[in-house]
Amino acid sequence: MSSKRYPYINSKLPCFIHGADYNPDQWLECESILQEDMRLAKLANINALSIGIFSWSSLESKDGIYSFDWLDSVMDMLAENNIYAILSTPSGARPPWMSQKYPEVLRVNANRRRNLFGMRHNHCMTSPVYRKKVMDINTRLAERYKDHKALLAWHVSNEYSGSDDEGQCHCDLCQEKFREYLQSKYKTLDNLNHSWWNYFWSHQYTDWSQIESPSPIGETRVHGLVLDWKRFTSSQYTDFFEHEIVPLRKHTPNIPITTNLMGTYPNINPFDIGNHLDFVSFDNYPFWRGDEKDIDVAIRSGFGYDLMRGTGNGKPFLLMESCPSATNWSPATKLLRTGAHKLYAMQAVAHGSDSVQYFQFRKSRGASEKFHGAVVDHEGSENTRVFKEVADVGKTLSQIQDIAATSYDSQVAIVYDFENMWALDASSGMLQNKNKYLETVIEHYSIFYKNGINVDIVDQTKDISSYEIVIAPMCYMLRGDFVDRVKSYVKEGGCFVATYITGYVNDTDLCFLGGFPGPLKEVLGIWCEELDSLYPEDKNALVYEGKEYEVYDFCEMIHTKYGAKKIATYKNDFYGGNPSVTCNQYGKGKSYFIGARTRTDFLDDFYKKLIDEYDIDKALECKLPHGVVATVRRDGETDYIFIMNYSATEKTVLLGKGTKYFDCMSKKDIITEVKLPIYGVSVLKKI
Ligand code: GLA
Ligand code: ZN
Repeated sequence: MSSKRYPYINSKLPCFIHGADYNPDQWLECESILQEDMRLAKLANINALSIGIFSWSSLESKDGIYSFDWLDSVMDMLAENNIYAILSTPSGARPPWMSQKYPEVLRVNANRRRNLFGMRHNHCMTSPVYRKKVMDINTRLAERYKDHKALLAWHVSNEYSGSDDEGQCHCDLCQEKFREYLQSKYKTLDNLNHSWWNYFWSHQYTDWSQIESPSPIGETRVHGLVLDWKRFTSSQYTDFFEHEIVPLRKHTPNIPITTNLMGTYPNINPFDIGNHLDFVSFDNYPFWRGDEKDIDVAIRSGFGYDLMRGTGNGKPFLLMESCPSATNWSPATKLLRTGAHKLYAMQAVAHGSDSVQYFQFRKSRGASEKFHGAVVDHEGSENTRVFKEVADVGKTLSQIQDIAATSYDSQVAIVYDFENMWALDASSGMLQNKNKYLETVIEHYSIFYKNGINVDIVDQTKDISSYEIVIAPMCYMLRGDFVDRVKSYVKEGGCFVATYITGYVNDTDLCFLGGFPGPLKEVLGIWCEELDSLYPEDKNALVYEGKEYEVYDFCEMIHTKYGAKKIATYKNDFYGGNPSVTCNQYGKGKSYFIGARTRTDFLDDFYKKLIDEYDIDKALECKLPHGVVATVRRDGETDYIFIMNYSATEKTVLLGKGTKYFDCMSKKDIITEVKLPIYGVSVLKKI
């Protein structure tokens, strides 16, 4: 592990960032509100605000008619109050005049109908007009504010995406760009026809112009096409981002740039765009409940943080948005219970975030998000429950500010690969659209989280050589040089765990010939002859170390043909007695194959042995009570341990003897135990 301190996001602010999206352009008619906001922001211990998100109408009221005066005043006002600006480019939403004057900026849906003006995050990413308008306004922003004292970072656009259209535009311009993308990838039509297996159903193209994006009124079953369209549309965002930042890089080479990502949002590969960001930022909206089910919400949320950190190659990231109260688009606009906000906010920090930020600072008076939680409510003062809890988080962040910029190191990596997800989702067979890839990955992840073990989330492109254990559930598609790197990782002594539905297809969704798991056969030591998909009422089990564990959904029929040993067998059916879990010695390392989908009970017992065998570090040596999780941030000298209680009852963590801790919040030494009230969080320093 390489524990260290990273540079701060910007050395202008060498501590945790506490802030919010601030949309003062909603309140320009009321000067006193802006002044009041500064007073309130300081009371809330806020040191940065994200501004200019969705401000295009206020910045360019007509084509080419710009007004920056209001933003000048806001930037100056922030500087006077020692609050930094995370300044946004406005491309997240367009003014109506633009759609009217240049209809090509509007997206066309898969049915080939152009959208009307409305909503946000819905522009054609190819449109030269849109790109030019973005370039013009970004250039003006960069030129104008490049030397402004308040400028801390750039927040490019907002949540690149699209909610009803999978973030895709099917207009003629995009079709043309897609064809260019394919041409540069496949070079010849013969190559493309072969890679997509267009021999089937008479689909062989004879001209590039015959290729159309997938559509319900056209093609959806050529999986290679569906996959390449996903790759293309995802890469369009990276391309657009690179276009947006040209003037920012030119005029402000020292100001770091991000765009806010959305965790497991499936239509943009964050591992791709993540490589283009100076730091990753994440908008996280878990549907907290405040009851004993919070632990499941926390596991999913923790996974989101680890995924986002992974897309930034392990560096500290920013929690760019979260809700300090009720999220209006969740199934129930449920309030955060009193005392819970700090726990939820600190989870971000516990996973490597150097900030806690909210959407939004002051609640909108009208429109779509007027009932979304905010730091300042419609009531308008600091005398609200939510405001006080936010201010308290700000205070806590300053108490623990030594932790900012420290690293989050893991000995365990779990592979969650977006291209693999797209391929699995496109494919027909197995359990028809119910492959539960994400849920499966999170289930494996949960075992480590509940044991207080740091985990990194990586995809097939990331370096895995430094981990003790690498787990790759359901790697249906194997791409790039992943197989070679898995082989050398295991050969050199690594421990690799794979599961059912692994090694079926190559990167254009062509099945591997010669037996699954394709090129992983030797390293896993097995051949999977057939996959049985089960109906919910089908019952089977596997027997492992004399104990029976239920299996469901998927059972692979495994032969230990290439040298693996069986370590568990199926109980019933015509494959009863055959191997269900195997282990293979390969070079100096080992690989395991879990052939069936199991419940958590099996994963608990299976991974416990590996955790012991590989002597995996835990945040705390003791067993964590149910509902309590723990993580560690390190700087090479000090370990900072976060212990979080999501159980809805008070919990005591018995630390055991031998290590002394310092409680960073109460500033007291702790020796034997930590008492965590409901929603309790403790940050301990090992001394
Ligand atoms: C997203 C957006 C914000 C706001 C919040 C509300 O994260 O980026 O503009 O709509 O959701 O939860
Ligand atoms: Zn388009």
